[in-house]
Amino acid sequence: MKKIVLAYSGGLDTSVCVKWLKDKGYEVIAFAADVGQGDDFKIVRQRALNAGAKRIYIKNLKDEFISDFVFPALSANAIYEGKYFLATALSRPLIAKYLVEVAKKEGAGYIAHGCTGKGNDQVRLEVTAAILGPKLKIVAPVREWEFKSRQDEIDYAKKKKIPIDITKKKPYSLDKNIWGVSIECGILEDPWREPPEDAYQITKSIERAPNKPKYIQICFEQGIPCYINGKYLTSQELLTRLNKVGGDCAIGRSDLVESRLIGIKSREIYEAPAATILYQAHKALENLVLDRELLHFKEGISLKYSELIYNGLWYSPLKVALDKFINQTQKKVTGTVRLKLHKGNCSVVGRKSDYSLYKKELATYSAGDKFDQSLAEGFIKLWGMPYKK
Ligand code: ARG
Repeated sequence: MKKIVLAYSGGLDTSVCVKWLKDKGYEVIAFAADVGQGDDFKIVRQRALNAGAKRIYIKNLKDEFISDFVFPALSANAIYEGKYFLATALSRPLIAKYLVEVAKKEGAGYIAHGCTGKGNDQVRLEVTAAILGPKLKIVAPVREWEFKSRQDEIDYAKKKKIPIDITKKKPYSLDKNIWGVSIECGILEDPWREPPEDAYQITKSIERAPNKPKYIQICFEQGIPCYINGKYLTSQELLTRLNKVGGDCAIGRSDLVESRLIGIKSREIYEAPAATILYQAHKALENLVLDRELLHFKEGISLKYSELIYNGLWYSPLKVALDKFINQTQKKVTGTVRLKLHKGNCSVVGRKSDYSLYKKELATYSAGDKFDQSLAEGFIKLWGMPYKK
């Protein structure tokens, strides 16, 4: 029997995948990753086995996800098309890494996933697998199978006696982890239509957010957030806390018609309260401690880095090289940022650092000015000389 390791979520698609692969003659080993999506993995395990998996590996990858994927992306100020903090995109190379690992452990020659042929996730999983396990062959049932709709899948599940909870009609497609939620499909496919309130999973609407602003202080060490309001938190606690506090203040929603790698535009909405807050805070601290040349050069790097994440090139040589650059830029990104969270707005209202390049005696327009104004004239003459000539 050919052995295959399937990336398993517990949903209808991947459950049908298990059975479908078995019908094609594979022995199916399921793999489920806990990246903070909040699933009950006892149920996930039972579903995989009920659908016919030989066994299931469930791995808690939250810490690794945060330290090796989320925080590097934060250090890089990674954001796609100005609105997407890449929560889904960051999780895929990690999941693929473990698919490859489990395949090696099991001596399996194949890996499988439940992605469609229209999305980015198939690219991310397969390109990562190509880099980390080039000998493995990939099977993507959803790209091959005969089902045309969700109803076809449900009919198949019923026929094959896969006990799946199909009573609730799911209006959206969701992907969730500790860095954010991605929501698509259903009525969101009309880009003219305002997303209905029930599409949002972890954030309050601006209307329901409290009237009183909330202040928080976040302390970073070398680009990594470590303390909230002076209290040290583990990275998981920190993100959970910011998702809660931010979500309650209606922070972190975005609505984007995005450009997929595959060449189509799709409408997706996102929720990423912690990411939104940390991105703002981290940038504000960089503005304080990085010199102009580095700061501006890094903006271009951020853009490239985000594209690499989005396009599934996490383990590519360019991404690895850019990490060295970004790490170097974070050496002095240590300090504290004060933010005001209020009805969907997240504004930085204060920042301080031992590495601050802000010198009051140079910047002030009041008493105590140490700036030598006489230097400006010569500087401007030289700077402007070519234009004058
Ligand atoms: N469009 C996002 C990306 O390509 C999210 C994809 C997954 N979204 C979902 N709702 N299942 O990274």
